[in-house]
Amino acid sequence: MKKYLVIGNPIEHSLSPLIHNFWMKKYCLVDSVYEKRKVEEKELKNIIKEIREDEIFGVNVTVPFKKLIIPYLDELDFSAKETQSVNTLFKIKNKIIGHNTDSAGFGDTIKKLYFHTNNSSKLPLEDKLIFIIGAGGVTASIIHALKLQGANKITLSNRTKEKSHELKKLFPKIEVLDWGKRPTICDVIINTTSIGLNKNEEINIDFSDYNKNSHKKTLFYDLIYNPKETNFLKKAKLRGNKTMNGKMMFLNQAKYAFNIWTNIMPKIDDDIKKLLD
Ligand SMILES: NC(=O)c1ccc[n+]([C@@H]2O[C@H](COP(=O)([O-])OP(=O)(O)OC[C@H]3O[C@@H](n4cnc5c(N)ncnc54)[C@H](OP(=O)(O)O)[C@@H]3O)[C@@H](O)[C@H]2O)c1
Repeated sequence: MKKYLVIGNPIEHSLSPLIHNFWMKKYCLVDSVYEKRKVEEKELKNIIKEIREDEIFGVNVTVPFKKLIIPYLDELDFSAKETQSVNTLFKIKNKIIGHNTDSAGFGDTIKKLYFHTNNSSKLPLEDKLIFIIGAGGVTASIIHALKLQGANKITLSNRTKEKSHELKKLFPKIEVLDWGKRPTICDVIINTTSIGLNKNEEINIDFSDYNKNSHKKTLFYDLIYNPKETNFLKKAKLRGNKTMNGKMMFLNQAKYAFNIWTNIMPKIDDDIKKLLD
């Protein structure tokens, strides 16, 4: 049996087993199973040992271990190096490689949204003003993906300002604002905080002036997909702004992880989308 895992703490909420087991069945990988395991930091070493000894075949890493796992790995792929964040592990030629598929997962999603509006010589986000709320573990992956799509005007605000400045070391061009402040105009506003995971939580930033026609094209994007619509998205929709939740990013990052492990690129079709509803 080929065993795959998602590790994190907490881990009960993870929907990764649902998706990967669905694809394993769909693509007839009958000897494979994907499970979740709650681990403590001191157990990371053991996880790596289990991969080295082929007891585990592939691993997804989630909060709070995406950075903490790095010292135990032999190599990092390009995105993992740039973001210092790893969400997928795989052993190849006796080396355990840390991959970051969050970045490509988000990149795929945002690229599709802006692809049509640009002429071919321009990258999709070249002329877009982007505001990121939050500076947690996933935010570096979002900035990395935005940069690859041409974004060069990124402003960021996080409650704990030191974390914004840590990100600025990785991405010197981002502009940091105090918590609660925001740029006057933006094309894309991305919530990368965990505010909204609980239904009544709200981000304390006022976007009420985004109700004019000139703002209708502004996209409010929330990385959260469960609940489907956070207050951040609900209010934006009421104002007439465009909205999108993190479901496609989640499916896309899973797709790339599955591909790393199996060489199969699974289809993101209605069946898999419905599975998360
Ligand atoms: N769709 C996807 O595929 C996908 C992938 C990864 C993550 N996510 C989602 O993205 C979110 C963040 O993940 P993460 O890994 O970056 O988590 P994290 O490392 O724990 O970061 C949490 C972020 O939320 C902020 N925050 C939390 N509570 C807050 C509050 N009451 N007021 C102000 N700020 C608050 C934190 O600010 P401080 O720094 O001040 O604490 C930090 O910026 C989660 O909701 C997660 O589910 C989605």
